[in-house]
Amino acid sequence: MQETRIVVLGDVFGDTGRKTLAKTMPEIVEKYQPDWIIANGENISGGNGISKKHANFLLQIGVDVITTGNHLFARNDWQEVTASVKNILRPHNMLPDNFPSKGIKRFSKEGKQDIQVMNLCGRVFMEPCFCPFQTFDRLFAELDSSVPLIVDFHAEATSEKQAFGWHAAGRASAVYGTHTHVQTSDARIITSNGRNTAFITDIGMTGSRDGIIGVDRDTIIDRFLGGYSDRFTAGDLPGKAEGAFFLIDGSGAVQTESFRFFAF
Ligand SMILES: [Fe+2]
Ligand SMILES: [Fe+2]
Repeated sequence: MQETRIVVLGDVFGDTGRKTLAKTMPEIVEKYQPDWIIANGENISGGNGISKKHANFLLQIGVDVITTGNHLFARNDWQEVTASVKNILRPHNMLPDNFPSKGIKRFSKEGKQDIQVMNLCGRVFMEPCFCPFQTFDRLFAELDSSVPLIVDFHAEATSEKQAFGWHAAGRASAVYGTHTHVQTSDARIITSNGRNTAFITDIGMTGSRDGIIGVDRDTIIDRFLGGYSDRFTAGDLPGKAEGAFFLIDGSGAVQTESFRFFAF
């Protein structure tokens, strides 16, 4: 199997996230020389959901695959977006299989190793959904095991994310958490049945460095102080683009690290 270099980017939040990504992408590409770039787009449109225009923005600046999360469903055009934009996934286990769009897909690009990307949601402190562990097992049984599988596990609880990582270890080539918007420092290779899986609990976010998980900080502080606040808007620049790098070969993953690039 051809060695494959993969960059994954944490939830891109609002206009500050878009500006940050546009500014940092050249540096990220230069450093990691990725064959594939996967970005979580669930917060890219005003912090809530993803419009067709912003999905196309991601594809135009070099993202190959867009994963999402619970906030995908914040916009009533989500079905149109997932049907019309190529290479976008929804969390597979948030809806029955027969709903439009999917959370598992194989991707091909000329001269590159094919990859499979899976998008699932956790259940702890999250909206109700089908069991992600059983959904993974069921979907994995149908996949081509010779093609690297990368999983965006969109979940709140660190315990559930670590449990899921070990559940998928040896089967997925990489499992990474999204949704909390706070990067964890535990990127490592875990091994099960002699096969290696890159794992990190949460890759973080792409958006305002000095906001609160992407949102303007004064708005959030007002909400905590008085129980009421203005509508959430994205915090300002400077921005940070957070994510992780995975180097994948026939044994699974051979190298991983998390990263953070700043945009001023
Ligand atoms: Fe998010
Ligand atoms: Fe989320």
